[in-house]
Amino acid sequence: METIQINDAADATEQDKRYIIVLKVGGNELDDEAFLVGLANAVQSIRNDGAFPVIVHGGGKAIADLQKQLGLEAKFLDGLRITDEASMDVAEMVLSGLMNKRIVRTLVNAQIRAAGISGVDDGTIYVEQMWHPLGDLGRVGEIKDVDTHLVRTLIEADIVPVVSPISFGSLDALSYNVNADHAATALAAALGAIKLVFVSNVPGIMVAGRVIRAVTATQAESWIEEEIIYGGMIPKVRSALEAVRNGVAQAVITNLAGVQEDSGTGIIGGA
Ligand SMILES: Nc1ncnc2c1ncn2[C@@H]1O[C@H](COP(=O)(O)OP(=O)(O)OP(=O)(O)O)[C@@H](O)[C@H]1O
Ligand SMILES: [Mg+2]
Repeated sequence: METIQINDAADATEQDKRYIIVLKVGGNELDDEAFLVGLANAVQSIRNDGAFPVIVHGGGKAIADLQKQLGLEAKFLDGLRITDEASMDVAEMVLSGLMNKRIVRTLVNAQIRAAGISGVDDGTIYVEQMWHPLGDLGRVGEIKDVDTHLVRTLIEADIVPVVSPISFGSLDALSYNVNADHAATALAAALGAIKLVFVSNVPGIMVAGRVIRAVTATQAESWIEEEIIYGGMIPKVRSALEAVRNGVAQAVITNLAGVQEDSGTGIIGGA
């Protein structure tokens, strides 16, 4: 992921910086009622501690399931999913519709004020088509800019923003699919968040069956090289490292239990 130009962080007051915690929620467990209730509890604890949570969510699994049901054939380039126009429609329906509203409903039901938006709304996340040396990945976006105005407006109104990573194509005004880890990282940096927590379906980065307590960039890259870190964990660990490089004080990869126990893999910047 390219380093993003973040202009908003400089405008953030010291108080904003102290208080915002971005939770990136993975899509693997969004169909699990117990997970959703646990997420609402985690959001409530952050609020009780005096910090303000912002949620960014994924939903890769639900998109793949619906594409299959609709008989859309999955196409890949170099292991990366190609998002053609029909797949893009499904991605937007699932992420900005079903998944987003499922989280919002859970929070509202737990008496937490919450509202769902996507990167498209108010032009929050601007992207251009992601370039790949081997060919056309379709409507996959690379983040170019983040405008935090709408998210800040919600925070100031005491409403928890729930953000779908579908984003605004700055050159063609089309919707683009963005990896939710990338979206969460860009938003956390732009908001000057103190912490970015990747809530996934694993307790952290696993090596030889154990959760690693902390990781540096050098170590992460060599584990990627050795295929100890693969698939969805690759963009996640690289995003976490990028967040720390871009001024987010703490980045953690964990699961919901880890959020409650304060455990997982911490990211060490600068090495
Ligand atoms: N070393 C590793 N330790 C732990 N998990 C790993 C490792 N290498 C690869 N993974 C895989 O990464 C997955 C997590 O990434 P994935 O993209 O599936 O989830 P997510 O990002 O939380 O959800 P979404 O992509 O929907 O936002 C794990 O389920 C696991 O299969
Ligand atoms: Mg993922």
